[in-house]
Amino acid sequence: MAIKLGVNIDHVATLRQARREVDPDPLVAARVARQAGADLIVCHLRADRRHVQEEDLKGLRKMLKSGMHVELSSAPEMVRIGAKIKPDWVCLVPETPTEITTEGGLQVKGAQAGRIEKAVKQLKRVGIGVSLFVDPEAISVRMAHNFGADAVELCTASYAKSVGKHKQRTELEKLELAGYLATELKLELHAGHALDYSNVGPIAQIPNLSCLNIGFSIIARSVFTGLKGAVSEMKKIIVSAR
Ligand code: PXP
Repeated sequence: MAIKLGVNIDHVATLRQARREVDPDPLVAARVARQAGADLIVCHLRADRRHVQEEDLKGLRKMLKSGMHVELSSAPEMVRIGAKIKPDWVCLVPETPTEITTEGGLQVKGAQAGRIEKAVKQLKRVGIGVSLFVDPEAISVRMAHNFGADAVELCTASYAKSVGKHKQRTELEKLELAGYLATELKLELHAGHALDYSNVGPIAQIPNLSCLNIGFSIIARSVFTGLKGAVSEMKKIIVSAR
């Protein structure tokens, strides 16, 4: 199975928001990324609007006939916006105001769980594919299945941040195991977070993985190489790992 590459363009918008200017335009970034081999364009509308804005989502929806993937928290306001914009995919993620980036997968217990289940139903009702961003644990993958999600996106942060071959191997095995369970439960398998050019290879070999969502490392590299080169190099690594 060929793996799709989702390129997260949040940090193009981060740069624009630093001066509240019109450049660099995330829509232009999306066009360049697609031309360079990105299969999906990913972005995260946050409660604090620190990078992409609702207007960007509207523009992306007009521009992209397919492959628009938006990360949202399960807060009612966000779910309403998602249902209105109708991207091809919504990935529900946890979100806290003080975090620098998403910190791990959704929690399966407590009030958040009920809100997630409701959000999945609301988004699916209007024809959006829904994935849940989860840690590579059986309980979380089962939650996604029980809530009626179409896919899980496994959080690769612990793998990416692990130091030493042994620890990295252990984290990779957790991802593989969670992936097998997701496939058994007929969930589409996605993965992402903190992946870069040096650590993505083994992840791209996880059986049944259909999509990798990568942002920061691609946008960081693009400062020196240009976005086209940064995307096409990542795509090459992923494709050749299979
Ligand atoms: N997947 C999810 C659910 C995320 O929240 C993020 C960060 O926005 C990513 C993938 C991309 O992570 P990174 O920017 O570290 O590649």
